[in-house]
Amino acid sequence: MQSIARLLGALMLAWAWAALVPPGAWGAPLVIGHRGAPGYLPEHTLASYALAIRQGADYIEPDLVSTRDGVLIARHENEISGTSDVTEKFPARRSRKVIDGRARDGWFTEDFTLAEIKTLRARERLPFRGQSHNGRYAIPTLAEIIALAKRMGRAQGRVIGLYPETKHPSYFAGIGLSLEEPLVELLHGQGYRTADAPVFIQSFEVGNLKKLRHMTRLRLVQLLGGPSRRPYDLARRGDPRTYGDMSTPRGLREIAAYAQGIGPWKGYILPRGPSGRLQAPTTLVDDAHQAGLLVHPYTFRNEARYLAKDYGGDPLAEYRRFFGLGVDGVFSDFPDTAVKARADMR
Ligand code: G3P
Ligand code: CA
Repeated sequence: MQSIARLLGALMLAWAWAALVPPGAWGAPLVIGHRGAPGYLPEHTLASYALAIRQGADYIEPDLVSTRDGVLIARHENEISGTSDVTEKFPARRSRKVIDGRARDGWFTEDFTLAEIKTLRARERLPFRGQSHNGRYAIPTLAEIIALAKRMGRAQGRVIGLYPETKHPSYFAGIGLSLEEPLVELLHGQGYRTADAPVFIQSFEVGNLKKLRHMTRLRLVQLLGGPSRRPYDLARRGDPRTYGDMSTPRGLREIAAYAQGIGPWKGYILPRGPSGRLQAPTTLVDDAHQAGLLVHPYTFRNEARYLAKDYGGDPLAEYRRFFGLGVDGVFSDFPDTAVKARADMR
């Protein structure tokens, strides 16, 4: 009887500990539900985030844009004709804009109030993924996503982290809908204030991360796009630095002055040759660690079309390879596969 009581006590202690300890505190790589679990359900919907959490994701990742009335909502881009039924519900609201230096035609979140956005339903963007959930789910606000993470975290007895990304921050600042202020206000207001809070804020731009550094102690992550590309805000002011330049030891030291991690495209760590075969790993993971930065590469997907030939069609093999190279987390469209690969390592 006493041993059962001891076992129960130990289990309760473990549960209480898990509920308090931020994800990743054990040193195992984080699983980040990239846009939720879009391998199964349309990206950036509460259903997709909830599935990612049920599958064991440590963090969920909302990409953020603004509505006309300044509310942060989860969409990968502000042009939403590819991921919602906006063209049918608001046919007359098509417009033309210049976003990050490129002319775009379409339907843009900043032209819609939150009430209007809430009449829309999400659609799967990729034709080779299931379409049967189209029309079922609303577009969520960041506030709703935070509430979901807290509610499901309480139910599961663990901390669910948030990994918001500011999309097109210079553009939104330029039209008077700056993303950083409402983001910080909401996160701080919800109790996420310190460097050990389960939050990472990410951006492909540099200037808004530096601005955020003065606004919050929450951890920041510099995303790295293709090596020959330049962050839009740097390009706009004539700064010649590319993401490739930022991935050098010197560039990483500069990032470490304002951020706690990098989110590199996978090819920075394991480049693919012209034949599609993997080449030798680079030193990026070690270089970033040397600079004191975490490394969370993107994006891991199960479909064979995305996998290097070397993995023989097995997505688990890709995770194993990256975990073996010492990454600190992975952005995954299939969090269950990432969780399984991580469990297999133990
Ligand atoms: O934020 C990491 C990864 O999501 C960056 O790519 O284009 O899917 O937002 P994207
Ligand atoms: Ca993202």
